[in-house]
Amino acid sequence: MALWGGRFKDAADPLFREVNDSLPFDYRLAREDIVGSMAWARALERAKVLTTDERRRLEAALADLLALVTDDPEEPIRDAGSDEDIHSWVERRLIAAVGDLGKKLHTGRSRNDQVATGLRLWTRGAIDARLAEVRSAQASLVRLARREQPAVLCGYTHLQRAQPLLFAHWCLAYVEMLERDAARLGDARRRVNVCPLGSAALAGTTFAVDRAALAADLGFDAPSANSLDATADRDFAIETLSALSTLAVHLSRLGEDLILYSSQEFGFVELHDSVSSGSSLMPQKKNPDALELLRGKAGRVIGAHVGLMVACKGLPLAYNKDLQEDKEPLFDAMDQASLCLRILARVADTLKLNRERLLNAARGGHTNATELADYLVSKGVPFRDAHDIVGRAVREAIGAGKRLDELPLDSLRKFSDRIGPDVAGWLTVESCLARREIPGGTGPRAVDAALAAAERRLGLA
Ligand code: ARG
Repeated sequence: MALWGGRFKDAADPLFREVNDSLPFDYRLAREDIVGSMAWARALERAKVLTTDERRRLEAALADLLALVTDDPEEPIRDAGSDEDIHSWVERRLIAAVGDLGKKLHTGRSRNDQVATGLRLWTRGAIDARLAEVRSAQASLVRLARREQPAVLCGYTHLQRAQPLLFAHWCLAYVEMLERDAARLGDARRRVNVCPLGSAALAGTTFAVDRAALAADLGFDAPSANSLDATADRDFAIETLSALSTLAVHLSRLGEDLILYSSQEFGFVELHDSVSSGSSLMPQKKNPDALELLRGKAGRVIGAHVGLMVACKGLPLAYNKDLQEDKEPLFDAMDQASLCLRILARVADTLKLNRERLLNAARGGHTNATELADYLVSKGVPFRDAHDIVGRAVREAIGAGKRLDELPLDSLRKFSDRIGPDVAGWLTVESCLARREIPGGTGPRAVDAALAAAERRLGLA
C-alpha cells in the first residue's frame, strides 16, 4: 500500500520502486514495527485520541499480525503487494483486518520516528543475542584451556619464536578480548535503548502523548531528548557496528593463529573434520575454511561500519532517505558476527592439540635466551651486557646446531665466567614458565588463577 499517493498524478516507475522500496530487507523489522505500533496505540489511548474500544481492536489485530510474522517471518515479502516498506505492509494488513479504524493508528506518528524506534528495538534484541553468543564462545575457549592444561605453546613475536607459553594463556587472551567486546556491545546498548516515538517527522508530535510512559512501555530507558536528533541520527547503529567490527577483528586474529597452527609447517593443532573442508582436486587436503571465513568476514563487518558512517557524514538534518541504507549493513554485520561466534565455539569444542610438536617448538628457536640473560643478571651482570653475552652464545649454538641448554657448560663459560652449573635449572621450558608467576603472566599458577576467574565469571565453575 502506498502511504502517500494523494499528491501524485502519475504512478511510480518500476525502476524507481526498485531503488526506493525497502520491504525486501526491512521485513526483518516486522515484529519491532508491530510491537512499536501496539505501544503507540496505547499511547494514543492515554492521549484520548483513541477510545479504549478502538485501541483494543487495533491491538488485537496487531497481535494477530505479530503471531503471523513470528510464525512466518517471510510473509511480508511474499505478500508485498505495492508496499514500499514494512511500515506500509503492517498498515495495509491492519486496515484489511479492522477496516477504517486501522487508518487512525498513524495519527501523530511519522515513519521517521517509527523506523528509528523499530531499528532501535531490533538492535537491542540483536545485541542481546550476540552477547549470549559471545558468552558461549568464551565458555568454549575456557573449556578448551581447561582440557589442555598444562599444554605448552611456543609464543611468537613478529611470527618468530619468542618465549614459551601455556596454551591456556593463549586461549585466555582471546577470552579477555571477547570480554571487552561484550562490554562495548553492552555499552552501546545503553545508548541504543532510547525511544524516538513522539518525535514524529522531525519536530515532535502535536498530540498529548506521554512519552515517558511510552518509552517505559517499550522497555526503553528514556524518551529521546530532541526530535531532530532522534529521527535523523544513526549513531546508535554506527556504534554497534563499531563494536562488532572490533569483535570481528579479534575473531579474525584468532582464526589466523589457528590457520597457522593447523598448517603442516606448524602442526600444533588439528581441526575436527566437521569444521574443515576438502579440495575438489587435491585429495590429501584438509582446509581450515571456517577459520579463513572468521578472517574474511571481518572485512565485511568493517565494511558495514565504514559504509554506514560514510552514508551519514554529509546528511543535512533531519531525515533523508539515505538513512534507509542503515539496515542492510547492520543486519548483515549482525548475521555474520553471529555465524562467526557460533562456529568459533564449535572449532574450540573439537580442537585437538599435538602436544609433542607444541613442546618441541616451545623448546626450539632459543626461546630460553631471555632466561640465560636473567640468570646473568641474578649473578650481578648488568642486563645490557647480559643481552650481548647471550646474543653471542646464541650465535655459537646456531653454529653448533644445538639449543642453548645443549651447549656444554665449558662453551657457555667462554662467554661469561659468571655462568655456573646451576644455569641448567634456568633453561628448561618448565622454568621459563614458572618464572612468570606474575598476575597476568604465563606461569602455571597465574594461568590457573586466571582460568578459575574466567570460569567463575562465565558460571562454569
Ligand atoms: N523505509 C524507510 C527507512 O527505512 C522508512 C522511513 C521513510 N520515511 C520517509 N519520510 N520517507 O528509512
